[in-house]
Amino acid sequence: MSKITASFTCTACGAVHKKWAGRCDACGAWNAIVEEAPLSAGPASKSLGTARGRRIALSTLATEEAPPPRAASGLAEFDRVLGGGLVPASAILVGGDPGIGKSTLLLQAAASFARKGLKCLYISGEEASAQVRMRATRLGLADAPVGLATETNLRDILTTLDAERADLAIIDSVQTLWADMVEAAPGSVAQVRAAAHELVTFAKRRGTAVILVGHVTKDGQIAGPRVVEHMVDCVLYFEGERGHQFRILRAVKNRFGPADEIGVFEMTGAGLAEVANPSALFLSERGQASPGSAVFAGIEGTRPVLTEIQALVAPSSLGTPRRTVVGLDAGRLSTILAVLEARCGIPFAGMDVFLNVAGGMKVSEPAADLAVAAALLSSREDVALPPDMVVFGEISLSGALRPVSQTENRLKEARKLGFSQAVAPDRTKAEGDQGMKLRKMPDLVTFVGDLFAAG
Ligand code: TYD
Ligand code: MG
Repeated sequence: MSKITASFTCTACGAVHKKWAGRCDACGAWNAIVEEAPLSAGPASKSLGTARGRRIALSTLATEEAPPPRAASGLAEFDRVLGGGLVPASAILVGGDPGIGKSTLLLQAAASFARKGLKCLYISGEEASAQVRMRATRLGLADAPVGLATETNLRDILTTLDAERADLAIIDSVQTLWADMVEAAPGSVAQVRAAAHELVTFAKRRGTAVILVGHVTKDGQIAGPRVVEHMVDCVLYFEGERGHQFRILRAVKNRFGPADEIGVFEMTGAGLAEVANPSALFLSERGQASPGSAVFAGIEGTRPVLTEIQALVAPSSLGTPRRTVVGLDAGRLSTILAVLEARCGIPFAGMDVFLNVAGGMKVSEPAADLAVAAALLSSREDVALPPDMVVFGEISLSGALRPVSQTENRLKEARKLGFSQAVAPDRTKAEGDQGMKLRKMPDLVTFVGDLFAAG
C-alpha cells in the first residue's frame, strides 16, 4: 500500500501542492496554502477489494429529453446571466468580495422567485433572521413568501431542505457551514468542499436548485469560492468597485447557457436596481471630448456594451515608469505599448501610463486592443478623438489589425447611442451606411497616420 501523505491546498485557487510554500505557484496568492489531513484509514484509502458495485443503467446520446424547464424570476438581469432563468436541480455559486451586495441580490432574487410561486428558502449563516427581515422590510420585500432561517449545521440544513421540498434554496454563505463528519474548522478547504459536495448532490437527487454564496477571500484563513467552482453547474461573480454604485453579475461558467454573460445593476438606497441599457450608463459620465478617451464597442456575452477607455500618458520622474491598469489586463497593455513602439516608432519609455475602464467595468476582449491604443495615443499626442466615434479591433504583434466577431451588433449599439463613425480592422465583413461611417484600417501604422497625422 502506498504511503498516505498530507496534501497542501491553496485556499484561493484550490491547487494542490506536494509541500507547503509561502506563495502559490498556480495563482500567486501569498500565505494561502494550508495543510489538509490525509484520508487515512478511511474506506476511501482501502482498495475496492472484491465487493461488487451496482450495475449502472446506460442510455444513448439520442435519448430524448425535453430541455430543462426554466423559472424566470422577473429580475431580467439576473435571469439573463443564468441563461434565461433558473434550471431545476441546478447548483449555482455566487462569488464576490465581502460587502459587494451578494446577500442583497439573492434576497431580491428569492423574493422575486417566491412571488412567482416557487417555494424558496433563504438560509443565512452570517446574519440573524431579524437582520435579514429588517433588510427585506427596507427593500419592500417583507410580503414575499420566502422561508427564512439562520443555521450553519449542514446536517440540519439538509434535513430541512428534504422535508420542505423547496424549489430553490439559497445558502449564505458556504464558508459558514459546518459539516460534522469533517474534522476541520468551518471555512477550511475541507469543510467548504464537503458542504458544497453534499448540497450539490442533494440538488441533483431531489430537484431543488441550490444557490451557494461564496466570499472571495484575500488571506488563507478561509477557503475561497474557487475550491468549489468545479462542483457546480454555474459560477457567477458579482463584481464592482466599492466606491461605485455599478455592480456586474458575470457568468464565468454555465452548463445551461452562454458563459461571459453579464447582468448590470446599480446599488441604490432601496437595494439593487436593474440597468437595462448598460452602454448608456457607462457612457453617462463622459464629459466633453478630451484627450485620452476612446469609446470601445464591446460584446459581453450575447449583448453589445459600449465602454469608455481612459488613458493618461505623462512624463515620469521615476527610473521605472508606472504602468497602472484598472479594468483591463496589465499584460495586454504591455503588449500594445510594445507594438506601438516597435511597429509605429512611438516610444513610451520614460512615461507613466495609467489606463482605466470608466464605471468600474472589466473588459477582457482582445477586441479592446485598438480602443486602448487609441486612448493611449490620444493622451500622448494630446489630441481628442472625435466624440461620435467608436473603436474596436484586435492588434496582432506584427501591428496588423484582426477583425473581431459580431461587428453588426457592435455597430448597431453604437448607432443606437448616437455614434456616427467607427474605426474597425480592414477585413471586417460589415459595411457602413448613412447612419454609420465605417473606417477600415489594415494596420496600426495606417491607424496612427489617419487619426493622429498632425501629431
Ligand atoms: P451585502 O448584500 O450585505 O453584501 P455581501 O452579502 O456581498 O457581503 O451588501 C452590503 C452593502 O450594500 C452595504 O455596504 C450596504 C449596501 N446596501 C445599499 O447600499 N443599499 C441597500 O439597499 C442595501 C440592502 C445594501
Ligand atoms: Mg452577505
